[in-house]
Amino acid sequence: MKFFIDTANVEEIQEAASLGILDGVTTNPTLLAREKGKGDFKDMLKKICEIVQGPVSAEVVGDDAKTMVVEARKLAKIDKHIVIKVPLTMEGLKAIGMLKAEGIGTNATLVFSPTQAILAAKAGASFLSPFVGRLDDASHYGMDLIRQIATIYENYEYETEVIVASVRNPLHVVEAALAGADIVTIPFKVIGQMIKHPLTDIGVKKFLDDWKKLGAEI
Ligand code: G3P
Repeated sequence: MKFFIDTANVEEIQEAASLGILDGVTTNPTLLAREKGKGDFKDMLKKICEIVQGPVSAEVVGDDAKTMVVEARKLAKIDKHIVIKVPLTMEGLKAIGMLKAEGIGTNATLVFSPTQAILAAKAGASFLSPFVGRLDDASHYGMDLIRQIATIYENYEYETEVIVASVRNPLHVVEAALAGADIVTIPFKVIGQMIKHPLTDIGVKKFLDDWKKLGAEI
């Protein structure tokens, strides 16, 4: 399973990349707005691409397919690693097909149902982003959707890669892996939670204390 980080914060991306586990980045307008005041968003996306050297999602905001495609072309020019996030609406679906014809990679986003997932794959989306956390928030089991999509995509050998998105905690990552998701996009905080274990901390402290008793040097 590939790990993407779900942030537009360059420092967080640098830190995650230094862990040697980072395969890509997902951003959205909300995440970019959090970085307001830190420079031009296109420069920020370029820097992120240079750090990651893998797929970096940037989202279009146009109302219709034609506008989305115009925006997508501009975003795609920033770097060869840019993938265009397109909301799975009627117009978004049209835009996905049009961008595929131009050889521009897409990430169908704001996906909440298996029907949306089927349509995105049929239209030729490179990636699909079902939002598990927001489904959980609405009293639906987000991971049930991932399992359904995994089965459907396997049945028909669809090439669209599933990115489990709107991840809120480490259990989402475990369940994504059990469901066979291709990718999980994780907020920086959750990466920290995945690493941390109290028994590890206790063990490190005990070994350090005992090493001091030995009085040796490595
Ligand atoms: O990748 C999509 C993600 O950014 C949405 O997360 O927490 O806003 O539902 P959230």
